[in-house]
Amino acid sequence: MMAARQGARSVVACELDSTLATLSKRIVAQNGYSDTVTIVNAVSSDLKVLEALPEPADVIVTEIVDEALIGENIINTLRHARQELLEPSGTIIPRRGRLYGRCVESSAMHGLNHVGETVGFDVSLFNKFSIHGHFPVRFQLWPRTYLSDPFLIYDFDFMSHDLAEKQSEIQVTATNTGVLHGIILWFELELVDGIIWSSTPPDFSMEAQRNNNQESHIYKQQTGIVTFSKPDRVREKNTIKMGFDCASNRVTVNLL
Ligand SMILES: C[S@@+](CC[C@H](N)C(=O)[O-])C[C@H]1O[C@@H](n2cnc3c(N)ncnc32)[C@H](O)[C@@H]1O
Repeated sequence: MMAARQGARSVVACELDSTLATLSKRIVAQNGYSDTVTIVNAVSSDLKVLEALPEPADVIVTEIVDEALIGENIINTLRHARQELLEPSGTIIPRRGRLYGRCVESSAMHGLNHVGETVGFDVSLFNKFSIHGHFPVRFQLWPRTYLSDPFLIYDFDFMSHDLAEKQSEIQVTATNTGVLHGIILWFELELVDGIIWSSTPPDFSMEAQRNNNQESHIYKQQTGIVTFSKPDRVREKNTIKMGFDCASNRVTVNLL
């Protein structure tokens, strides 16, 4: 409806959940945009030009990110959308997505995903249910010590022909001695040039600091973490080597 209000001739909005799609149709009608905005109840990768869309789109807008950027299948969804639904000269919003991480010591956050001994009993069999990969956490709320500076894990160009899930090997220097319980994760989405939507406050954002521009920084408080089942001790100034993977919409990390 915002695109239509700004003058778009035709808008096709795609939502896979049938309840949300039905309600969206009613909302569009109530607001008087049914002539311009069509709601399609489908997964976008099933859409075809000349069926759901009258012609290739000149702009595709999406918000399918979770706390670790890739958890809602944005990589495969946008690769399909760019190849099959977008005009060759068209634009995707967001244009880029960057995932950042920072090594952290925090037995409190580690304890959200792993158990050991409690009141004298070994309950570690419950670790069968530990999450392998990232999960949401508001890391600002938990006691923690950073063991590294922030580092870039992935930089995805959503318009790229090579957009794909990938692996990334990263080495950082430990800035503190401590127990490496996990890697906290946050992302920055470059919606269009200079407009950043981030999952961290501006004072934590690489982009906002780089450009000294906190005004164009939209902040959503939803960050992630990956925890290690066997935390390692690290020493200040030593190298921490990590292998990141984002296959199957899940960020996983191995200490190398
Ligand atoms: C993260 S939510 C959007 C939340 C919304 N922007 C907000 O701030 O409240 C993503 C939505 O897109 C839908 N969705 C995700 N991937 C989709 C796809 N490939 N095709 C159609 N709908 C999809 C989900 O069902 C969900 O309703």
